[in-house]
Amino acid sequence: MCGIVGYIGDRKAHEVIINGLKRLEYRGYDSAGIALYNGSLEIKKGKGKVAKLQSLIDSSDEAKIGIGHTRWATHGEPNDINSHPHTSSSEKLALVHNGIIENYNSLKKVLESKGHVFYSQTDTEVLAKLIEDVYSKNTDDFKRAVQIALAQVEGTYGVAIIHADYPDQLIVARKGSPLLLGIGKGEMLIASDASAVAEYTDQVVYLDDGEIAVIKKDEYQVHNLNDDSLTKEVHELALSLEEIEKGGYEFFMHKEIFEQPKAISDCLRGRLDVESGTITLGGIKDVLGKIADAKRLVIAACGTSWHSGIVGEYLFESLAKVSVEVEYASELRYKESLIGEGDVMIVISQSGETADTLAALRQAKENGALVIGVVNVVGSSIARETDAGVYIHAGPEIGVASTKAFTGQVTVLTLMAIKLAQEKGTISKEKASKLIKELSEIPGKVQKILDKSSDLDEVSNLFSYAPNFLYLGRSFGFPVALEGALKLKEISYIHAEGYPAAEMKHGPIALIDEMMPVVVIAGTNHTNDKMVSNIEEVKARKGRIISIVTEGNEEVENLSEFSFSVPETEDELSPLLTVIPLQILSYNIAVNRGCDVDQPRNLAKSVTVE
Ligand code: M6R
Repeated sequence: MCGIVGYIGDRKAHEVIINGLKRLEYRGYDSAGIALYNGSLEIKKGKGKVAKLQSLIDSSDEAKIGIGHTRWATHGEPNDINSHPHTSSSEKLALVHNGIIENYNSLKKVLESKGHVFYSQTDTEVLAKLIEDVYSKNTDDFKRAVQIALAQVEGTYGVAIIHADYPDQLIVARKGSPLLLGIGKGEMLIASDASAVAEYTDQVVYLDDGEIAVIKKDEYQVHNLNDDSLTKEVHELALSLEEIEKGGYEFFMHKEIFEQPKAISDCLRGRLDVESGTITLGGIKDVLGKIADAKRLVIAACGTSWHSGIVGEYLFESLAKVSVEVEYASELRYKESLIGEGDVMIVISQSGETADTLAALRQAKENGALVIGVVNVVGSSIARETDAGVYIHAGPEIGVASTKAFTGQVTVLTLMAIKLAQEKGTISKEKASKLIKELSEIPGKVQKILDKSSDLDEVSNLFSYAPNFLYLGRSFGFPVALEGALKLKEISYIHAEGYPAAEMKHGPIALIDEMMPVVVIAGTNHTNDKMVSNIEEVKARKGRIISIVTEGNEEVENLSEFSFSVPETEDELSPLLTVIPLQILSYNIAVNRGCDVDQPRNLAKSVTVE
């Protein structure tokens, strides 16, 4: 969370930085700020979005170096003073920060005793003052001062710093929060995310934890905190501008929902051979034997990725006959860890930067488990730290509400489960061939659903102002119910709960009355009869049934006030279809309610703090 951008070169720095901040705004949008140096340090910042910051900047400003920040508040409410950049006491140093300085209180007390005065409630201001304190008292080498100060910090940081005494350099450092360098011709950028640099260069260097870089307009040096010089690999960025722009859609989420046929095709490309009934997953081929021998699989993830993890649990258990536990990464890292040698952990993350998922991964690796990643963002921390993995290739997902990443993750987990089942001999040739053929048809079936998305307008309009929603599903429909409820609550602020349908009568049924919309996910599978009984139970209490059914499920259609059908497919693949109308329903409702769909309140796309 929080977006960081920096620039040094011959362009107007504010233009590049504002441009980059707009691309990073999905990482946090509580406040925005910029520091520019042009003979003196100039800072503009304040509560609100990047567009507001832009209006504060003099467009003729010629500064060629600067840093910018878009904030997701951790310490201190979102207001002007708490906005980044923060400055040192001499106001010669400006700093932007992503992460949490856990020992900021003790550091602050020491600095106050030395005469530093603090204006904000942030942990970040401590860092700005600490670096200057070290610089003025312990060393006259500024880079060294940053290293010494950072060595005293407990917690996480991605920082970018400019200093009036060094007008030709930016300093950046990373521990636990992503940062990369964009290498241009006669210019350099730094950013917390590649989308901010993609317009200017496709050459990037990813910083690793404990590294610091000194960046001038045509050179950069990377060191570790002991000041050893490091040689870093330069990566080519495969990111087109088209992918990170709205392309005529009002919201990124809308674009991303409609990109799903292509995203799933991209995910399947080169991996499926329908003729021979085989699957190729280059990223895990060397460890497939180890996965097949695993005593158990543990899946760790957060949010939507955790929901796809539950789909994964059902897939691996039913096809590969292996016991699976799905854990919230945030819980896993603080409980007695029983994960160790012989176990396999699958971590799922769109961004590849989620702090809790990264911590769970590191803990599992330390304990000797094999860790496999299912990640979207190429080159992200999780992708780089896992032992092996499979990218979902969904392309950049910018809307805070995850859509195409979910279907991409489920697609990859399906491929992995079939592959593993084939390796272990737990799936018949016929079943594998059927699933593989059906998978190849999923993009077309998703397109069919999207083509009739306007069929959801009426139900969306009718229920846009409902205060609560209940989502019910069984078997593969259960994680879809969870995901449908999350989508609705995060972008429309309507309270929604997802439940296994049978659990309803153990509590939530008390909520049902004539005001309660109940969304049921009903296939034509072995649980359909049970689902029908659950629907009857809701109707008996005057609940309003909205059903997502497989084509031909007339029984459920006839029991529903509204029904939307999806094409028939294999049970195991049904989440890839049933989730689509739920994404559209929540999108429509959020738009009707006038919500900021891409930047819902209090949220940020990538949660890089605990
Ligand atoms: O980047 P990740 O997949 O690790 O992110 C996990 C969650 O933060 C994310 O899925 C979040 O729940 C989304 N806002 C859901 O739409």
